[in-house]
Order: sequence, then structure tokens, then C-alpha cells
Amino acid sequence: MVEPAEVQHGLEDVVALESRICFIDGKQGRLIYEGYDIRDLAARSTFEEVAYLLWYGRLPTATQLSELTRRLVELRRLPDALATEIDELPVTAHPMDILRTAVSALALREPSETKPGESSIGGAQRLTAVLPSILGRFHRRRAGLPPLRDRPELSHAGYLVYALLDRDPTELEARAIDVALILHADHELNASTFAARVTASTLSDLYSAVTSAIGTLKGPLHGGANERVMELLDEIGTVDRVEEVVKGKLSRHERIMGFGHRVYKVEDPRATILREWSRRIGDAHGSLRYYELLRKVEEVVLREKGLYPNVDLYSGSVYSLLGIPHDLFTPVFASSRVAGWTAHVLEEYHDLRLIRPTAKYVGAIDLPYVPIAQRH
Ligand code: ACO
Repeated sequence: MVEPAEVQHGLEDVVALESRICFIDGKQGRLIYEGYDIRDLAARSTFEEVAYLLWYGRLPTATQLSELTRRLVELRRLPDALATEIDELPVTAHPMDILRTAVSALALREPSETKPGESSIGGAQRLTAVLPSILGRFHRRRAGLPPLRDRPELSHAGYLVYALLDRDPTELEARAIDVALILHADHELNASTFAARVTASTLSDLYSAVTSAIGTLKGPLHGGANERVMELLDEIGTVDRVEEVVKGKLSRHERIMGFGHRVYKVEDPRATILREWSRRIGDAHGSLRYYELLRKVEEVVLREKGLYPNVDLYSGSVYSLLGIPHDLFTPVFASSRVAGWTAHVLEEYHDLRLIRPTAKYVGAIDLPYVPIAQRH
């Protein structure tokens, strides 16, 4: 028997597969999608353009981009049966649970004549287009907002804001959300993408892979962290209390959400960009409170623990200022990362190899079997 190699807890530093989609340089703090630096994409592209890039491996021409934008608008509509099912789910549920359940149910409710090939770019586009509609359908009911209308003139970012808030974003807000979606669209083999690829590697379908990914993103050590950052700010209240609250948490070995990263050993480049957007949106809304609190939290965590912010530190402050409820932060993240999940799933189908690692067995062996009547 071949002895397994040393255990890499949490698969840390394990190179599991080859991918052309995303590169993270954790030492230099760089993030690259298909060869393009995230700073260029955040400054110059749109979510639709980035989704095209991730799915097709190249930037679109103007015609290709307008064709994709039109497709995504067409694919937003929920099947009637699914809309009814979403209406029957408890309004007290967490929207990530709604999303997971609805994506799973969508696979059963797609009318067969329009159902995209499950392992095709069409399926990736359908899943990306539909997430804001699922969230809007659920959230509008619990918030007493009017039902969703078709808004074909709105981009993915604009429609997401409209679906959740029943208002159109200002130009600045629309750009802030678009940038946040670009920044969240992919991140190499993060836990949820890995979960999606594991599911796809068994030759399971795209809907199942995205369902796995949503369940994985939900956890507070992954996508759920931005929601907890806002809880921390609520607990802190004012800048003069940051020092006391943060040091207290660190002395009790509690984690400060929005800090630290498995791959980045320096500042997450997405945090750098979102910090600036948090300031801009704060300025536009006449409230730099979150921004100033977060700057102070950063100062204390870096000094006391040597940890840098990750993407989740500033995103919540941008969403909060727009009026997005805290429990919808991770679903907003999912409405972007779905582009990356599906790109990875398509890559997995292409380079298929069942993902099945091995464990170092540390249990007993050769125990004598005791009949049930003799056990105590
Ligand atoms: N607050 C306090 N201490 C921390 C934090 C944190 N946010 N992050 C890491 N540490 C400490 C750990 O306690 C540990 O200290 P120790 O060696 O004294 O025990 C040390 O730093 C190393 O931590 P690990 O958990 O081994 O690092 P890992 O690579 O597994 O963790 C993770 C990465 C899970 C992101 C971690 O930094 C964390 O829990 N951060 C808070 C949650 C968060 O912000 N998640 C979002 C990540 S980005 C994303 O998923 C979109």
C-alpha cells in the first residue's frame, strides 16, 4: 500500500488542477482574470464584459457584448411554477437558503423547450441572469414591495439593485455595484468554486454544481463574512470604541471578519478598490461613518495582529449605504460569483478528472466485531 503524503489541512497550498481562468499572486497582491489585471477590469469594464471574458476566455467585441447583454436580459424571467414555489418558502428564511433551494428547483422547472444545455454556456448564462430575479421575488414579498417588472434597459448590476430596492440606482451607485460584481466574479479555487468543480467532476449537471457552490459560499468564513462585518460595526458604534472592542475580541481569540486570507499575504487588491468606493459612496450619501470606522478597525487589526483586509471588509459598507439589507450581502456576492462558478464548471467538463482526494486514516483497525446483544 502506498503511504499517503503528509496531510495538508484545509488543502492549504495543494495544487489541485490546472486552470486558465484566474490567477492570484498572494505575495504581490495581484488578481488576474484570463490575463487581465483586476484593477484594469474594475476601472474600465462592466460585469457583462467580465462574465463574457470568464466564459469565453477573451474580451468581447462590441457586437458580442451587446448580444450577451440582450441574452442575459431575456434569461432573467422565472418559470411561473418556480415563482409560485418561491412564494411558498418561509419569509423568515435566510436569502442564501432561498437561493440554494430555488436554483435546485429551477433545474426541475425550466420548460423543456427553453431549457439550456446543462453543461453549456447557455446554462451558465441562464443561472447568472436568473439569480437577481430569485432574490427580488423573495425579498419583495417579505419587504412588502411591488412585484418585479421586466426592465430590459437595466444592466445586471442595475437590475439587481432594482430587484432588491425597487428603485433605480444613481449613476454612481450603479457603477459601485458593477465594480463590486466585477471584483467578486471569480477567485481561483476558493471554497465555493472548488465545491462546484468537485460536483461537476462527477459529471453532475451545472445546476447541481451551482447549488453546491451556494451552500458553500454561505458560510461565515467565506461569503458570509461581509454580513458579519456590519454586525461588528453596529457593535462598535463609534470610532472611539474601535480600539477597545477589537482588542477585546482578539484577546478572546475571536476572528475579526473581513481580515486575513488563505492566499493573500498582503492586502487583497479587491479591498483596495472597494475601500475607495466605500469612501465615494459615503461621500455621496453624506455619511463617512462606516468608512471611518473601517479605517480605524484596519489600523488596529494590522497593528495588533498583522492582518490585512480582504474583499469582505468594505463591500458591506457600500451595500448598506445603498439600503441593501445585511442578509442580502452574500446573495449579491453569489449574483456575481455565479459567473466564475459556471466558467470553472465548464472548464472542469472540458478537462474532466474525478476530484477525489485521499485521507490519512487515524482510526482503529482490526477491531473484533461484537454482536449487538453483547455491547454495552
Ligand atoms: N481575525 C483574527 N485572527 C485571524 C483572522 C481574523 N480574521 N484570520 C486569521 N487569523 C489568525 C488565526 O487565528 C490564526 O492565528 P494563530 O496562528 O494564532 O492560531 C492565524 O491567523 C492563521 O489563521 P488560519 O485560520 O490558519 O488561516 P486560514 O488561511 O485558514 O484562514 C480565513 C483564512 C478563513 C479567511 C481567515 O483569515 C478568517 O477566518 N478570516 C475571517 C473571515 C473572513 O473574512 N472571510 C472572508 C475571506 S474572503 C472570501 O471568502 C470572499
